[in-house]
Amino acid sequence: MTIRKLQDEILKIKEERGVCILAHSYQAKEITEVADFTGDSFALSTAAEKTAANTVVVCGVRFMAETVKILSPDKKVVLANPNAGCPMAENFDIEMLEEAKRQYPDYTVVAYINTTAKLKALCDVCVTSSSAVSIVRKIENPNILFIPDCNLGNYIAGMVPEKNIKILQGNCPIHAGVELQDAELARASHPDALLLVHPECLPGVSKMADFVGSTSAIMDYAVNSPEKEFLIGTEMSIVHHLQYRCPDKVFYPLSGKLVCPDMRMTSLPDLYLALTGAGEEIVMDPELINAAGKCIHRMINS
Ligand code: 13P
Ligand code: SF4
Repeated sequence: MTIRKLQDEILKIKEERGVCILAHSYQAKEITEVADFTGDSFALSTAAEKTAANTVVVCGVRFMAETVKILSPDKKVVLANPNAGCPMAENFDIEMLEEAKRQYPDYTVVAYINTTAKLKALCDVCVTSSSAVSIVRKIENPNILFIPDCNLGNYIAGMVPEKNIKILQGNCPIHAGVELQDAELARASHPDALLLVHPECLPGVSKMADFVGSTSAIMDYAVNSPEKEFLIGTEMSIVHHLQYRCPDKVFYPLSGKLVCPDMRMTSLPDLYLALTGAGEEIVMDPELINAAGKCIHRMINS
């Protein structure tokens, strides 16, 4: 079946069954074209809350589907490809956090949204890459324990120097894989391009950037900028999406390493199958929903 035919079939089933499809911005174009909503990890969860549909299919990674379920516990939430997980979220050692909490009992524990529900349940407040600086700045406690991304944590620490921020080890293997030399080479190859990077990149790479922001913030910046050339320091898919949206501008990947296999895992056939009964329904204990939900609601209300 051609991509177009499969997309038509997906749109038909989606309408018939009243299903809402959410796609993270890193998903392939053939998926974002049939999605009801495409956005960064935080925007996806709040979009699910607003839809009237009772079933939501998530094309992204597991923590995104979990966040949707936590915020919309009465909806049926399906992860289109059950193997798609975020290694940074899933490899974090929960015992390390429990130990750090014992060691620093007076610290406010801040979790990046790229965490499992079990980790969120142990934290005080959640942040996304776009909201992290403003939320941490507003926390009354000067002592912060931040998990699980040391690069985002370092970026926040630089932006909010008045806080004492302890960062527990972890990073995104994709963004942190871009080395300083890669960025220097890219800049030298495209001297007129603005460098836009995600704060999951190494501190040295973020320091070289003209703009540091979340996936959506990078896209908005590039779309609204009067400049014509950009080096994109986040997942390669964003280069392609921006090129479609802004055909009069030129976008280059900061590095060929910026490909997240987990984000690439979901295919159009996976989405089709998820609409017809495959995929994985996210099932969570109500106590876990409640505990992890507190930390997400604090983020939304802050
Ligand atoms: P955003 O919160 O910017 O969507 O990022 C999610 C992610 O996984 C980045 O690698
Ligand atoms: Fe996780 Fe990094 Fe992939 Fe985002 S790009 S899902 S942080 S591994």
